[in-house]
Amino acid sequence: MDKSSLEAHVEPEKVRQWIAEIGSDTSAAVPILQAIQGEYGYLPREAMDLVVANTEINASQLYGVATFYAQFRLNPVGRHLIKICHGTACHVQGADRLNTSLRHILGIDDPERDTAINGSYTMENVACIGCCSLAPVMVVDGETFPNLKGADAQRALRNHARVHNEILPGQQSDEEARA
Ligand code: FES
Repeated sequence: MDKSSLEAHVEPEKVRQWIAEIGSDTSAAVPILQAIQGEYGYLPREAMDLVVANTEINASQLYGVATFYAQFRLNPVGRHLIKICHGTACHVQGADRLNTSLRHILGIDDPERDTAINGSYTMENVACIGCCSLAPVMVVDGETFPNLKGADAQRALRNHARVHNEILPGQQSDEEARA
C-alpha cells in the first residue's frame, strides 16, 4: 500500500458548503480547517486548494494557520494513534529510543512520515501527559503504557496489534528476514 492509498477522497461540494456556512475571509481559516479535519482526519491537499480557490484566504495564510496550530495534520492518519510523550521526564528516560523502536516495528523509514504504510498506526510526539513518575510513556488510542524501557514498547504494540487484528509492517519484514 503506498502513501496515496491513505489519502482521503475529497468531495468539493462539501468543502464549498463549509465555506458558505463559515465565511470566506481570513478569520474563517481556523473553523474551515477544523471542519475539513473533522471530516477527513487531516487536511487533504485537494481540500486546501479548494479553500484557497474559493475564499479570500491565500495559500501562505492557510498553510501558515495549518502549521501554527498543533491540532492540525497535513498527512493522513492511521486507524490507531500512538502518542509518545516527550516531556522532560520522558525525554530523560529515553523517549527518543521509544520513537526509534516504534518506527522500526512499524516499518516507517522515511523521517518525513509518521504513519505506517498499511495505515495501521500513526505516531505523534506530544508534550507531558501528566504521569511523569511512569516515564517513559506512550498512549495508544487513549490507553496509557508506562515504563517503556528496552523492548517494552515493541512488545506492547505487538499485543495491541494482535488484539485489533492489525499487521505491523516492520515486524513482518523482521520475520521475513528470519525465514
Ligand atoms: S514527561 Fe512524560 S508524562 Fe510527564
